[in-house]
Amino acid sequence: MPNFLFCNYHPQVLKETLVRHGFTFESETDTEVIPKLAKFVFDKANEGEGAQPVTFSQVVLEVMRHLEGAYALIFKSRHYPNELIACKRGSPLLLGVKELNEDINSGSAFHDAKFLSMDGHSKELFLSSDANAIVEHTKRVLVIEDGEVVHLKDGSVSILKFDNDKGRHSGAHSRPSSVQRALSVLEMEVEQINKGNYEHYMQKEIHEQPESLTTTMRGRLIRGGSCKAKTVLLGGLKDHLKTIRRSRRIVFVGCGTSYNAALAARPILEELSGVPVTMEIASDLVDRQGPIYREDTAVFVSQSGETADTLLAFEYALENGALCVGITNTVGSAIARHTHCGVHINAGAEIGVASTKAYTSQIVVMAMLALAIGGDAISSQARREAIIDGLFDLPNRVREVLKLDHEMKDLAKLLMAEQSLLVFGRGYNYATALEGALKVKEVALMHSEGMLAGEMKHGPLALVDENLPIIVIATRDTCFSKQQSVIQQLHARKGRLIVMCSKGDAASVSPGESCRVIEVPQVEDCLQPVVNIVPLQLLAYHLTVLKGYNVDQPRNLAKSVTTQ
Ligand code: AGP
Repeated sequence: MPNFLFCNYHPQVLKETLVRHGFTFESETDTEVIPKLAKFVFDKANEGEGAQPVTFSQVVLEVMRHLEGAYALIFKSRHYPNELIACKRGSPLLLGVKELNEDINSGSAFHDAKFLSMDGHSKELFLSSDANAIVEHTKRVLVIEDGEVVHLKDGSVSILKFDNDKGRHSGAHSRPSSVQRALSVLEMEVEQINKGNYEHYMQKEIHEQPESLTTTMRGRLIRGGSCKAKTVLLGGLKDHLKTIRRSRRIVFVGCGTSYNAALAARPILEELSGVPVTMEIASDLVDRQGPIYREDTAVFVSQSGETADTLLAFEYALENGALCVGITNTVGSAIARHTHCGVHINAGAEIGVASTKAYTSQIVVMAMLALAIGGDAISSQARREAIIDGLFDLPNRVREVLKLDHEMKDLAKLLMAEQSLLVFGRGYNYATALEGALKVKEVALMHSEGMLAGEMKHGPLALVDENLPIIVIATRDTCFSKQQSVIQQLHARKGRLIVMCSKGDAASVSPGESCRVIEVPQVEDCLQPVVNIVPLQLLAYHLTVLKGYNVDQPRNLAKSVTTQ
């Protein structure tokens, strides 16, 4: 293969070089650069009399050499009929293997061989970035790793492993090795990816939270006999709890909803572990190259386990020697595979782009993490046992709060024409304010801000008038009286108030008839965010449907953000 002209791999620079060579572009996407680069590589290699025909894999490997950042790609070309090449870096890629007329056999392995029909059994192969797309065809998958290149040709498939993720092999005489490893079996059912009787995945996922929470806790909460204490067992962490307890710091890292879930769990972790807990938005940690030490425990929270920003932050923490813990919903995801230890949230497949049931399960897992870390302190035993009782009861309380569905639809009708919505929370429910506002903005495409009520007088109060709707979360906890005073101050400025309070508290929180009240069941303070987010999820859902927007695939967003 000849050497090409590119020395800088930034997509914009690649694009400019290709434009100089006569290529035209139809979009502004980086993705379009890749096939055009492949065409350029192919043309160059075949230039001139007597040029050796270039193979498809040579073209792809040359393209990979020039790409920076995360990608998962499938190449097809009319120049190479009956061939297909797939490769990846950073982003997920699964090879699904369906043996026609055969039962699922978890012990079978992938062999680099004639694969489709030559061994006597017909097989179908599937390439996907997400298990949800494969499970209706087969549960047997091979997770493709960085540096592996899948090549299908004339009914056979081979996977070559290169030393590095740009498809290069370092040793001068060494050749790439072929991959042979056991297929994994997806632990999910097709029913999980059906909408059932619901109109949208988001709606289904909001309403199945009593069941998803039950699954998250199954086998992990132990209510001992009369003289035995109640405890929590997190199998994936039991060998690391001592190290975590001795950490200098616990650092939570995540993006979007996963970050908010960690924020909701932070106070209980601080209280029960006695270890300082800090919060990091994954991209910001990487941008700042913030301090992470060997003595830190870094907890990576991610529903998909494949978010590029979270993965980069993970690599950074790993390089700095921290103990890395993963909290994810996706078995076999990059976070699940590469962290030192972790916990699966077991919320079941979440298809809607807006994260709902994963959020509540993440909070519950982190509350259980706090209980496990604080597990040997006599001083907090009563508190821990009250939380465990609260966890057992939580699915029922969520079932109860889901009955507010119609009420939230009515509220959505009232708010659907508004430009903006503020949500004030504090303490355990600062995260609820952020997450409620995130739901409204991402699916209902309405400007919405979650705010720390303690910051109200430091700026946001200037926004308050009789038009702007404001939700104040004022359920019973140690911040309750402060929230009562916030409500009074907003009312004094003619604020258009919607107050969320504990059942029976309507009269104590409502400053007047114009104020709308949402009453929710009261649970243990650290579990209250799980209950309180549900009406806001319902509100976001109904606002979106009423406005006629796509609930499950909001504009410009992807379920798994696998690029930076
Ligand atoms: C949530 O509704 C959003 N879709 C988004 O904020 C999401 O939580 C974020 O991209 C992180 O994803 P992860 O949990 O899969 O890492």
